[in-house]
Amino acid sequence: MDLIFASRHESQPQEWVRVLQQALPSDSIRLWDPRSATGTAQAAVVWEPPAELFQREPHLKYLFNLGAGVDALLQMPDLPQDLTIVRVEDGGMADQMAEYALYYLLKESRGFGRYAEQQKQSRWHRLAATQREQWPVGVMGAGHIGARVASLFVGLNYPVAVWSRTGRAVAGAQAYGGDPSLGAFLAQTRVLINVLPLTPETQGILCQRTFEQLRPDAYLINMARGGHLIESDLLAALESGRLRGAALDAFVHEPLPVSHPFWAHPRIQLTPHAAGISLVEQTVHQIADKIRALGRREAISGVVDRTRQY
Ligand code: NAP
Ligand code: GLV
Repeated sequence: MDLIFASRHESQPQEWVRVLQQALPSDSIRLWDPRSATGTAQAAVVWEPPAELFQREPHLKYLFNLGAGVDALLQMPDLPQDLTIVRVEDGGMADQMAEYALYYLLKESRGFGRYAEQQKQSRWHRLAATQREQWPVGVMGAGHIGARVASLFVGLNYPVAVWSRTGRAVAGAQAYGGDPSLGAFLAQTRVLINVLPLTPETQGILCQRTFEQLRPDAYLINMARGGHLIESDLLAALESGRLRGAALDAFVHEPLPVSHPFWAHPRIQLTPHAAGISLVEQTVHQIADKIRALGRREAISGVVDRTRQY
């Protein structure tokens, strides 16, 4: 297969090409450059690809996205309708994102954030023991990442609920499915963790109405997309005390503008879209397996459903 690697922002493109070539020695793999495009590529491995890719490479049949989320890709104006888009399934990100959620949950449930403050004042004061039943976790999304996040908290004996479109089960967690069950899911959640894909159905789902249905003194962890969050509703919920705090990894505008109020907010912790980063070896291994399967005319997993948009 004639395979290209195309990305506007990937920091180590040559490394991806090197590992891909190692995994697929009989395929031709090159770093795509619009100035020397041949128009012959059949498949592309991409992360935020250049806008002109689809016009310059009209024979593309498969697009392997280096991330799990395809929301930005699906908005690209020249994206051909018949192109098969394959997203990364975990790629080493699910464990990282479970760690991310655990880190921020423990800062609240175990009081590690407060201990850090106390240390600044040389203050020795032991907080009461954590009662896990007072920290029920609700995970929005039960896919590759949501299931891993939920399982971690199940293993630590927190009460866990998961909410997905179809009510997908995760062992040890209470499963909720579809919009009619969202209220019941939220009503039993204090730590709300979002790992939904961004679609027309989920856009703006982290809003005042959602926050109001959570348990009192709730905490938000958004590891998915900035478009899920109504920013003004979050600021109002923090101001009113409806939410005790939030950890945010993704934003509508990235990098987050320096003038944005989130930067200096005392109850917001933010990270630069780093909750989960696709690992080269694992991701390449997965893509190579799929390319070989396609060569044998076998079906592959991870194909994006254009109607559902994930
Ligand atoms: P996935 O395997 O496709 O899982 C998506 C889950 O969301 C599924 O459980 C699905 O329900 C559920 N869902 C979709 N639409 C829904 C709706 N309208 N209502 C309720 N549930 C809905 O995706 P994934 O690999 O876990 O990744 C999830 C997202 O995480 C990505 O799209 C991306 O935005 C984000 N992400 C962020 C980072 C980061 O570093 N910040 C890294 C990786 C991924 P069903 O199971 O019923 O289909
Ligand atoms: C990262 O945000 C991803 O979607 O993989």
